[in-house]
Amino acid sequence: MLIENDKQAKHDETRQGEALVMDPVSGSKKLYVESYGCAMNFSDSEVVASILAQEGYSTTRNAEEADVVLINTCSIRDNAEARVRKRLTDFKKQKKSKPELVVGVLGCMAERLKQSLLDEEKLVDLVVGPDAYRELPGMIEEVGGGQKAINVLLSREETYGDITPVRLDENGISAFVSITRGCDNMCSFCVVPFTRGRERSRDPQTIVRECAELFERGYREVTLLGQNVDSYRWNMSSKGAIKDPSQPTTNFAELMEMVAQVNPLLRIRFSTSHPKDMTDEVLEVMAKYANICPYIHLPVQSGDSNVLQRMNRGYSREWYLNRIEAIRRIIPGCGISTDIITGFCGETEEEHQATLTLLDAVHFDFAYMYKYSERPKTLAERKFEDDVTEEVKSRRLEEIIEKQRAHGWANNKSQIGEIHEVLIEGTSKKSESDLTGRDGRNTKVVFPAVNGLKKGDYAWVKILDCTSATMIGEVVPQP
Ligand code: 5AD
Ligand code: SF4
Repeated sequence: MLIENDKQAKHDETRQGEALVMDPVSGSKKLYVESYGCAMNFSDSEVVASILAQEGYSTTRNAEEADVVLINTCSIRDNAEARVRKRLTDFKKQKKSKPELVVGVLGCMAERLKQSLLDEEKLVDLVVGPDAYRELPGMIEEVGGGQKAINVLLSREETYGDITPVRLDENGISAFVSITRGCDNMCSFCVVPFTRGRERSRDPQTIVRECAELFERGYREVTLLGQNVDSYRWNMSSKGAIKDPSQPTTNFAELMEMVAQVNPLLRIRFSTSHPKDMTDEVLEVMAKYANICPYIHLPVQSGDSNVLQRMNRGYSREWYLNRIEAIRRIIPGCGISTDIITGFCGETEEEHQATLTLLDAVHFDFAYMYKYSERPKTLAERKFEDDVTEEVKSRRLEEIIEKQRAHGWANNKSQIGEIHEVLIEGTSKKSESDLTGRDGRNTKVVFPAVNGLKKGDYAWVKILDCTSATMIGEVVPQP
């Protein structure tokens, strides 16, 4: 799921790059949280804010007035880490003039770099991995007593399922809800299994309760989050054996159905799907409920079966195309986006061409495209050479971006004349008299405000025009 406003403007680092500064909630001691990376990190920051709110912390958007600064970090690519390091130097300066300031690193970099982060970045006081956030209050206290504190233990159980996150988003309409943590897939390029640990699923009752509470507070959209939502399972082992026969089991399709039934006015999104695990059952549930958005983010990574094998993705080009065919058959008109990595170890020109032909075959609505960045400890780092030159990686990335841009643009244009249901997120930044929101396919739609429509309402909008990232339309009666 995507944090940034719109479509990929820069080539690399868009998805993982945007920092979010948290909105204020009330309390006496001041906490400033800055989040980088995937939606899961942003969601975790809300759990952290909730844990610290219990201790009397309120969040601030102004780092200058904070007693505690926490940076929730991302390790997915080298440049994501580089950005955080640069930011840490800013806080070092702030700490020099305010020595009592507590500066902590949370998330994937904390987990990956552990003690070395305390040794290297001398002015970092706290290093806390993704499964240790409950320990934060005690750790901050320790730091107050003049010590450094570190906890990077990963857990097989922690889901923070009982914690109601403090919502730190700006619009009060869309919220992230975590359903799994960690990842067992071991894609060879990916650091996540090392930084976020083994996969575990959250109790479905706590998920449904959180969604129902969000709806009651005025939220109209939830995004169910996991590294691989399709492998969500409750009361089942990874091999499918029932753990407690007296209790029901729940898979992802069933969970989504439970959430869809919270209220027909609550929109459901989810991210991220995995091609090897996405079942027709999930697609059929999507087709059955009007409030489950017809949009799937299905990372392909490469269009070549040999590269996919080196990536340890667990599917071939043909399998992926079969999943696309199933989506289009079961949910006609479903939006589809993807992730692509260019220049993975040993990628030949033919293998790169296969990614280009896959783009032509699928015609994605949107793609996040990255150059391969070798990550320490991963299977690829141990097994393969990072042998595609930077120049070739960049050129291939350009070729992919250019093709994808044309497809996205053409897909948008093909919607002109259609009528879409839009969830209104607020007034347009460019004009007070325009409203903005998203359709079910996650495309931004802007249209003139009429009939007292406001944030949180649904409107039927006829698409009249589009840019590469935005549809422009007018309100029409419900068809
Ligand atoms: N280099 C480049 N991109 C990566 N991703 C994950 N690991 C790497 C890496 N080492 C991309 C994948 C994934 C997305 C979240 O980030 O495309 O789907
Ligand atoms: Fe990383 Fe693969 Fe897990 Fe996604 S599915 S988090 S790419 S290991």
